[in-house]
Amino acid sequence: MLTVRNLRKSFGGLQALAGVDITLPDESILGVIGMNGSGKTTMLNCINGIYIPDSGEIALDGASLLGLPVHEVAGSGVGRTFQVPRVFQHLSLLDNLDVAQTGSAAGNDERYALSEYWLKKVELLRLRHNYAEELSGGQQKLLELARIMVARPKVILLDEPFAGVNPELAQMLIGIIGEIASRHHCAVILVSHDLTSIYQLSHHIIVMNEGAILTQGDAATVKSDPAVIEAYLGA
Ligand SMILES: Nc1ncnc2c1ncn2[C@@H]1O[C@H](COP(=O)(O)OP(=O)(O)OP(=O)(O)O)[C@@H](O)[C@H]1O
Ligand SMILES: [Mg+2]
Repeated sequence: MLTVRNLRKSFGGLQALAGVDITLPDESILGVIGMNGSGKTTMLNCINGIYIPDSGEIALDGASLLGLPVHEVAGSGVGRTFQVPRVFQHLSLLDNLDVAQTGSAAGNDERYALSEYWLKKVELLRLRHNYAEELSGGQQKLLELARIMVARPKVILLDEPFAGVNPELAQMLIGIIGEIASRHHCAVILVSHDLTSIYQLSHHIIVMNEGAILTQGDAATVKSDPAVIEAYLGA
């Protein structure tokens, strides 16, 4: 279980996170929505060690992640994708996934099989020997997802996985994200502006506004909250 307590982060005079608490049980999907600039990406950056929060606590299965460098947070089981995908452009798809398994105790055959499994899952297997730079933006997002999954994470943080992805790919991604939680026993924090996907996938949803949680609950609760309708949908 991932727990975040009273997370705060300011940039100069701007309070990007004003005391956020989350609890992410194993195998669950937490949807995070909120206006542009409400602190969603900053929260992910604090969890995976890109930013050091000003205060608060972040722990995975009771062990603090606070102050650990990014690679150690990843090594302890937290995978992360980015709003703009970050893959190794000049490596093949297979090599991208192999690099992600550096330090794995598995032998070559087992690592290769795992890479193939995830490339097949995201429908990129036929391109396995191509360079990542030859992929479209949407395909790079899928490769990035495959790359974090071959590291067998306990938790993954997905930042806008559906942005810039065509509707068919998005539908496929929804299926994969659901399976990641249920079949691969991995918890997911899903940041997205795509409310339909958020409502469909999330077990619990938080709505962020100005660095704080405006409201939270299941899809029905969030959809009908007048504060959400006003602050988020602007109606
Ligand atoms: N490195 C930084 N330096 C200064 N300000 C920052 C930095 N990172 C984020 N911010 C500010 O913190 C606030 C929250 O930004 P954040 O990227 O977390 O928003 P977001 O909810 O992810 O928005 P979006 O939906 O547009 O992705 C914004 O006002 C942003 O300008
Ligand atoms: Mg963001």
